[in-house]
Amino acid sequence: MSSSFLWGAATSSYQIEGAFADDGRGPSIWDTFSRTPGKVRDGENGDVACDHYHRYLDDVRLMAGLGLRAYRFSVAWPRIVPERGVVNQAGLDFYRRLVDALLERGITPWPTLYHWDLPQYLEDAGGWPNRDTAYRFAEYADIVHTALSDRVENWTTLNEPWCSALLGYANGEHAPGRAEPEQAVKAVHHLLLGHGLAVPLLSGNIGITLNMSHVTPATTSPADVDAARRIDGIQNRLFIDPVLLGAYPEDVLADLSHLSDFSHVKDGDLATISRKLDMLGINYYSPALVAAADPVPSGTTPWIGAESAHWVDGGRPRTGMGWEIDENGLLDLLQRVVKDYPAIDLYITENGAAFADSVSSGGAVHDPERIDYLERHISACAEAVNRGVPLKGYFAWSLLDNFEWAHGYGQRFGIVHVDFGTQKRTPKDSALWYAARIRKGLL
Ligand code: FCB
Repeated sequence: MSSSFLWGAATSSYQIEGAFADDGRGPSIWDTFSRTPGKVRDGENGDVACDHYHRYLDDVRLMAGLGLRAYRFSVAWPRIVPERGVVNQAGLDFYRRLVDALLERGITPWPTLYHWDLPQYLEDAGGWPNRDTAYRFAEYADIVHTALSDRVENWTTLNEPWCSALLGYANGEHAPGRAEPEQAVKAVHHLLLGHGLAVPLLSGNIGITLNMSHVTPATTSPADVDAARRIDGIQNRLFIDPVLLGAYPEDVLADLSHLSDFSHVKDGDLATISRKLDMLGINYYSPALVAAADPVPSGTTPWIGAESAHWVDGGRPRTGMGWEIDENGLLDLLQRVVKDYPAIDLYITENGAAFADSVSSGGAVHDPERIDYLERHISACAEAVNRGVPLKGYFAWSLLDNFEWAHGYGQRFGIVHVDFGTQKRTPKDSALWYAARIRKGLL
């Protein structure tokens, strides 16, 4: 079984490609957002990033050298449909070249159709709160599928719709930077609708990637237990329930009733959203230990529907992002998905850690903390498989240090170090460790 386990690494278009105006690419919400003063650390942006658009062949060779079996990347919608109604062949050609290079080296391409770079003209027309965006997404998915289905078998519609909807439209930390919670609730639905509309247009192994967290109450007090229920509801069940069960969770609808009467949910939408999938991608980084708080401590931005809840320090070591490290949360989460939802193949589509790495005088990058993080989480995956979880693959986030959204280039998640001045790639110790772990197999 372990020999068929799919080992990969992941990236996304805006975070690595650069070439923001090459070959007919149009602007996305992240181009606009990163040019808005105060939104991204030090005013950084993805104009150049890892220059992967021009260096993809070297990057694919690097992947082959590490023995990766799969590569998860995203397709940039603004390269493919840069203006309403315009299909940009040069954009499609780039992904054909990338996919061909991967296949030549026996690396399975694992594209995601939407990893947050909405074309700006669609945001100008209302963005994800506008129902029409779901239909435009399906159209775009069809275009990419038609161009690549002769060589791509695995398709992921969305990456982390929680982030697109809530960070983008509720608290404005991510593009397009709108703090309009009522609109965020609509964005959730239209992202999921876009996913469901795209599914029948794709072929092969089809899935969606959700960022899920293992949420536990800090104490057994009813108030903390209810806070954990609410956070779990908005982070996990608001997304996985409609996709795999065909219904929004009643308690979450009640939690959100002050923001929405859900009249934007039309007859038939949930049937569309819950079309049968082949796989579920899970991005896991950190657990959530949650307590009730009234009032919310100053300086915390409550998630919508999760007002009067806050995160409690679990006392564990943290990554450079300040995220607590707990591989048991991953194991518990995987088992919970198996217990509460219909059987489906699972993949860890992102897992990894940022630390402040630097190249040593000898030219190596020593990152023992990242190795420890990966080792713990991969061991949790092995344990999950031992316990019968249908986990079929694992993708480390990320192949390369890259543009970490609002954190700019300040957080390095790569197993390969990137010098952003010279674009030199240096596999970190963790990349060499990962290559050896792949050779050894999961179990
Ligand atoms: C996830 C994103 C990914 C990256 C990691 C650290 O939420 O999908 O692009 O930023 O976090």
